[in-house]
Amino acid sequence: MPISINHVQKEDVREMFDDIAPKYDFLNHFLSMGIDKRWRKRLRKEMAKNTPISIIDVATGTGDLAFELSKIKEASIIGVDIAEKMLIIAKEKSQKKKLNDRVSFQLADGSELPFSDNSFDAASISFGIRNFENPQKGLEDILRVLKPGGYAYILEFGKPEKQPMKSFYKLYSSHILPFFGKLFSGHTKAYKYLPSSVKKFLFGDNFCELMKTAGFEEARFIKLTFGIVYLYIGKK
Ligand SMILES: C[S@@+](CC[C@H](N)C(=O)[O-])C[C@H]1O[C@@H](n2cnc3c(N)ncnc32)[C@H](O)[C@@H]1O
Repeated sequence: MPISINHVQKEDVREMFDDIAPKYDFLNHFLSMGIDKRWRKRLRKEMAKNTPISIIDVATGTGDLAFELSKIKEASIIGVDIAEKMLIIAKEKSQKKKLNDRVSFQLADGSELPFSDNSFDAASISFGIRNFENPQKGLEDILRVLKPGGYAYILEFGKPEKQPMKSFYKLYSSHILPFFGKLFSGHTKAYKYLPSSVKKFLFGDNFCELMKTAGFEEARFIKLTFGIVYLYIGKK
């Protein structure tokens, strides 16, 4: 039975991401050894198969997925997030990349999206749903704003189940990641929270079940990098 309530409070999550915003991009690429770019690229390739024009990127953070999705021909992307400081960085990056006509950002809660029903051809969320106070509610609202027949693409951490990756990942996430996270961000809590939130969160079939409970007609996953990350694809 999937769990749908997290033990995180929205305000704590917002504060944490606002605090680490200036270091977020550097740490993201450093701690994933650059593989995070490949995970977002894979999502974009899957999404591009359905040629969406209007896309919402929920929990967009500093906008890396939104920028990746702007490579889809003629697509317009709206990125939303609750952490204003993450969005400030996203907007600066958008200006530098000269993507302001294709990509825009808005402060909004992913569980109460300020858009009408059936507004978007596609929705995405990368490494965000785990941080929602109520992930099921987030999925329900993403589903609401999707057009009938539209798809949601979700990247989230899983857990490698086969050795030797299982042991390496355990060591990496419980010791190496918090050490470097703290060293470079000075934020002990955030980089302890990351592995502990991954540990508690659903993945694989259980997450697909949560998507179906939220109302998705279909939900499937693609395992990436030995199951460190899962790409979920759900159809409205
Ligand atoms: C780990 S970051 C991921 C950012 C980006 N998607 C990426 O791939 O780098 C998680 C983001 O989720 C956002 N977030 C958490 N709860 C949210 C909510 N209820 N609504 C919107 N954004 C939320 C946080 O503020 C943070 O920017």
